[in-house]
Amino acid sequence: MKNRADIAVAGLAVMGENLVLNMESKGFTVAVYNRTNARTEAFAGGRGKGRNILPASTVEELCDSLERPRRIMLMVKAGPPVDELIGKLLPHLEPGDIIIDGGNSFFKDTMRRAAELQKKEILFVGAGVSGGEEGALHGPSLMPGGDIRAWEHIRDIFRAISAKAPDGTPCCDWVGPDGSGHFVKMLHNGIEYSDMQMISEAWELLRRLCRFTPETLAALFENWNRGELESYLIEITSEILRRKDPETGAYVLDLILDSAGQKGTGKWTAECALDLGMPAATIAEAVFARCLSALREERLRAAEILPGPPVPKAQDETAFAESVRQALYAAKICAYAQGFQLLRAASQEFNWNLNYGDIALMWRGGCIIRAKFLDDIKRAFSADGNLANLMLDPFFAGALAKAQESLRKVVAAAAMSGIAVPAFSSALAYYDASRSKRLPANLIQAMRDCFGAHTYERIDRPRGEFFHTDWTGSGNVSATSTNYNR
Ligand code: 6PG
Repeated sequence: MKNRADIAVAGLAVMGENLVLNMESKGFTVAVYNRTNARTEAFAGGRGKGRNILPASTVEELCDSLERPRRIMLMVKAGPPVDELIGKLLPHLEPGDIIIDGGNSFFKDTMRRAAELQKKEILFVGAGVSGGEEGALHGPSLMPGGDIRAWEHIRDIFRAISAKAPDGTPCCDWVGPDGSGHFVKMLHNGIEYSDMQMISEAWELLRRLCRFTPETLAALFENWNRGELESYLIEITSEILRRKDPETGAYVLDLILDSAGQKGTGKWTAECALDLGMPAATIAEAVFARCLSALREERLRAAEILPGPPVPKAQDETAFAESVRQALYAAKICAYAQGFQLLRAASQEFNWNLNYGDIALMWRGGCIIRAKFLDDIKRAFSADGNLANLMLDPFFAGALAKAQESLRKVVAAAAMSGIAVPAFSSALAYYDASRSKRLPANLIQAMRDCFGAHTYERIDRPRGEFFHTDWTGSGNVSATSTNYNR
């Protein structure tokens, strides 16, 4: 065994341990550290026993056990724990050493840390890691960004441990500067939320309007997974639908409380969309749907008070199921279009110069949203790197033209049956608003100008010229006449 490690992992929760085992299995010697040393010892004497793993009981020992430049990957909870660990490492590092934050850190924290560490000549990398514990062990999607001088020193390790696309391409590439890697990971999670919400809405519609049994539903999702919707989330949905509880014999899904949790990455994505003025409504609706599901006690009370329509049975279940499949595909295109629109806005806002096709390729394997669909996105951006909206790519525009009627029918059927489909509905609204030559925003401008003299632009004057109408005839000019940009 080498007496110096190629890389260190600090933070030995399951994700960290699995990354260590993945790295070691690819021939790298890995130093390991955990704040609770007992955990380090348990790992080294357990899952790590007999492997090229160098346990360190202190941060100093960890840093001394590394080849130069030192490469240390932090796998600790986002927030203060990252700053605390960086503070402990710094006294034992030299200029040119590399710190990689592999947690779900907020990208603006990563931007701050990158700037702070650059002053100390430490190369900081914020790397999104997607694929959960299984992915960490067998091949995650890795989205590193930050100080590009670090990339040549971590590229071989990262690409060796990453998932591989079906053509063998590593699902890992350099994303861009400062917080861009963590932003891409955050956006991945926002899209993940919308994917999961849309799948749950499709399942709810099929279950209630077609009265399909779990076995029928599982077979249907399995069949969907052989077409345009092929993806990890569709695959596991089919498996989840089939799983029975060994003790009760009931379907596990029927035993799970309908109150969704969330660690915050989807919320961050919606907040960033609002900050950047981007209409990522389906991602936001997926977050709100989790929030509303968590208000379960209120829902139970409201169910006794608020009436709704009877839930009819679909006249032709097979035809309706196909409409739901097409609706899910159309809504998915709209949700991903929103996600990449937000990515583009962030790239411009933060001067990241992101490559959207490469990002789609990083998501082709290993991550939670991995799907054949991402090949089509990669092709769209390879054909036009400046594509303003995914829906305008000829392939996706054609797919939407074919599937939009099904989305309309399904949203209408849900509405008339009293079944909430916020993601499907917002995707349809996004599609229709995006293709509208004129929206009723002129009335909004008129109202804003009427009550607040916020002024408006005119269709018969150059953009940037603002006007006010004395709507009340009182001659008063309202309190504000500031021209707002958004
Ligand atoms: C991934 C996952 C992961 C996320 C979990 C929980 O890419 O491996 O997205 O990063 O933390 O899915 O997220 P929520 O609790 O927010 O659903």
